[in-house]
Amino acid sequence: MAISIKTLLPDGEINLELLKVLADNSFDSILVTDATKDGKIIYANAAFKKLTGYSQEEVLGQTPRILQGPATDKKVIDKLRKVLSTGGKFEDRAINYKKNGTPFIMHWKVLPIKFKGAIKGWIAIQRETSGL
Ligand SMILES: Cc1cc2nc3c(=O)[nH]c(=O)nc-3n(C[C@H](O)[C@H](O)[C@H](O)COP(=O)(O)O)c2cc1C
Repeated sequence: MAISIKTLLPDGEINLELLKVLADNSFDSILVTDATKDGKIIYANAAFKKLTGYSQEEVLGQTPRILQGPATDKKVIDKLRKVLSTGGKFEDRAINYKKNGTPFIMHWKVLPIKFKGAIKGWIAIQRETSGL
């Protein structure tokens, strides 16, 4: 077998522990939601708390919509809604709000987690940026 990340485990299974260490320690904020229409948050890393002020415990079961507010560009959210309905990929910027109400520019990607053709959930990778 060619050398690859799959060599970490003898049977080639995805190593959940590896993914958890990566996500827990990422400098970028990472959110995972389930595949329901609303996208309920099932994981948020430490960088998400640093960025937004919300802890994982506070956001579990909520949707990332809590980050939006009056100045959030509806066109960007409309684009994301379409991507979520087709199972595609999204990357854009919009104004979001921290827990304390401070607005900031979020640059984020949303990607489907697909297994055997079915969407099992969604991942977002997020960071604060300086321009829209
Ligand atoms: C994995 C994931 C991450 C998301 N992250 C953000 C985010 O960082 N900022 C944001 O404004 N919306 C984010 N959203 C979008 C909202 O959760 C929601 O899907 C969007 O507002 C469209 O739904 P609505 O029309 O019911 O508001 C994210 C959605 C998903 C599935």
